[in-house]
Amino acid sequence: MRRKDLDYILITAMLLSGAYATLSGLVADLFGFPQFFLHRYAGYLCAALTLVHFTLNGRRITLYLRHRWRKAEQTPRTSTPVREQVRPSGRRQFLIGGAAAAVGFIVGRALPARVRPQPSLDTTDLGELYHQWSKPGYSHILGVVSDWGERPEQYRAYPETQKITLPDPRGYRGLSLEEAIGTRRSIRNYTTVGLSLEELSRLLYAAQGITARQGLRASPSAGALYPIELYPVVHNVAGLEPGLYHYAVREHALELLRQGDLRAAVVKASLGQGFLGQAGVCFALTALFQRTRWRYRERTYRYVLLEAGHIGQNLYLAATSMGLGACAIGAFLDDEWNNLLQVDGVTEAVVYVISVGST
Ligand SMILES: Cc1cc2nc3c(=O)[nH]c(=O)nc-3n(C[C@H](O)[C@H](O)[C@H](O)COP(=O)(O)O)c2cc1C
Repeated sequence: MRRKDLDYILITAMLLSGAYATLSGLVADLFGFPQFFLHRYAGYLCAALTLVHFTLNGRRITLYLRHRWRKAEQTPRTSTPVREQVRPSGRRQFLIGGAAAAVGFIVGRALPARVRPQPSLDTTDLGELYHQWSKPGYSHILGVVSDWGERPEQYRAYPETQKITLPDPRGYRGLSLEEAIGTRRSIRNYTTVGLSLEELSRLLYAAQGITARQGLRASPSAGALYPIELYPVVHNVAGLEPGLYHYAVREHALELLRQGDLRAAVVKASLGQGFLGQAGVCFALTALFQRTRWRYRERTYRYVLLEAGHIGQNLYLAATSMGLGACAIGAFLDDEWNNLLQVDGVTEAVVYVISVGST
């Protein structure tokens, strides 16, 4: 076979496998295939063909690039045209190609991998083990790119429920940010005065409201994946029936999940902390772990809790800015809260609670 023919065959195969890898990648993304082997092998084939092609034509490509570079710099051109400088590639190119592949393989192997400590008798602290275990290595970061996971729905919806549209939260001018930061405290004494619907609307907007056209929200989120859902348990808000609601982020609305006085249940689920029953509203923050896991895998638990913290602080500052009191609650019975919200505690679980009331 002539060299030119081989080049054409290689380039055509490269283009076809590249196009197939792109298309299968799109299909995998569209349907959320976790491990789409047809995509993976097409990608490997394309990479192998590219390597062979570069091995055969490396010299020609480098000469061409060098020539273009010189031309761009407007330095005097070499008298010999590029075509004439090109020498057919021989054993040297194969060796260089092979060496490059070997170096790539060795570097890939040698890059610090994730630290996966074996459970040791020295520690019984799962958090410590998890923290060590979830440290990424460089090879892990590269691996994430090729790891297609199943991405769940971005928005939780309860279509069968009654929807309550919330007033526009924008335009309110409360305390300055500096004043809110300077005066924020965890407040556990609330008066019997309820919250207004406007106040509740501003709190939800500060926590998770959509603040940019692309769907970006008030609190930051790793990869803009937004794993946290907000469930306000309303005790005393003007114009709202007491009960359990879900915040529909897209519509900036509430969905009524369960009507009724949930004060006793909330206090019981929070290890008897009575002030949760005096608050106007208690915000339960749940995490839908898979929303983050499909991309960040073992980093998920870190990110999800960090994000709950961001949302909690926004709630604190928004409440302070409006003259309300807020308190974070981390001491609660997980299963009781999960049962209250009717979430399974595994795929979706309560991770944080914030009470807000009038002071
Ligand atoms: C993660 C976390 C969990 C908390 N859990 C509780 C709780 O269960 N009950 C409570 O009364 N306060 C709780 N707090 C509030 C802290 O007690 C409070 O932030 C701390 O005493 C400092 O006071 P300050 O917030 O007024 O600055 C929690 C705070 C955080 C950040």
